[in-house]
Amino acid sequence: MSDDDLKQAVGETAADLVQSDMIVGLGTGTTSAWLVRALAERRLDIRCVATSTTTATLASELGLLLVDIDDVREIDLTIDGADEIGPDLTLIKGGGAALLREKLVWEASRRCVCIADASKVVTTLGAFPLPIEVVPFGHTTTVRRITGGLADCGILTAPRLRQKDGAVVITDSGNLIYDAHCGAILDPASVEAALKSITGVVEHGLFLGLTKEALIGTALGVEHLGPRDFKDLPNG
Ligand code: 5RP
Repeated sequence: MSDDDLKQAVGETAADLVQSDMIVGLGTGTTSAWLVRALAERRLDIRCVATSTTTATLASELGLLLVDIDDVREIDLTIDGADEIGPDLTLIKGGGAALLREKLVWEASRRCVCIADASKVVTTLGAFPLPIEVVPFGHTTTVRRITGGLADCGILTAPRLRQKDGAVVITDSGNLIYDAHCGAILDPASVEAALKSITGVVEHGLFLGLTKEALIGTALGVEHLGPRDFKDLPNG
């Protein structure tokens, strides 16, 4: 089975977690796109909050009812992908540049379920470059401070401004993304604290303590796992 087959299987399984009358947070990325398609096919009476304009476009094209995050008191269930899933369900997200809206939606949700193919599971976070969203004003100054903050955490790296097809990537909120090739993030909480203390950093892709469950697509089927299951999983 290809990674895309696994993403499809996990997206379709995740759609079965949704029930009528729910307010559902829709993630961003290729795995979440499978979720959105499967959810639209179920034709439930639900309202959805999208984590990006890309997901909003797909969801509304498929007939899902979208609402603004500010028009709901709480989101019942958010289902979203990840770039890396580490010990205790710590995550790196933001490969699709949607980390800010994703984190806002996750934090407004009673339950968050991470969906991914098995290749995303790692024993240590950091092989995937950590996305950091910064405001455009003064971003070169901000990234110097980010470099210093990461060095204080023992991570020597020069974050790179994200570009796609030769153009600088601008997020849905009009910001820039710097990708920090950390190698290994041994103390994610310290990195989170360091980045959060820097003016100009809007958000970062470390999602710590935001989910207690994940659906992982493996060659043997889709596994529904909790934090303890992520202590001893082999890399990949
Ligand atoms: C977007 C994200 C995605 O969830 C993450 O990049 C995983 O994407 P995919 O499902 O395409 O592998 O965080 O900002």
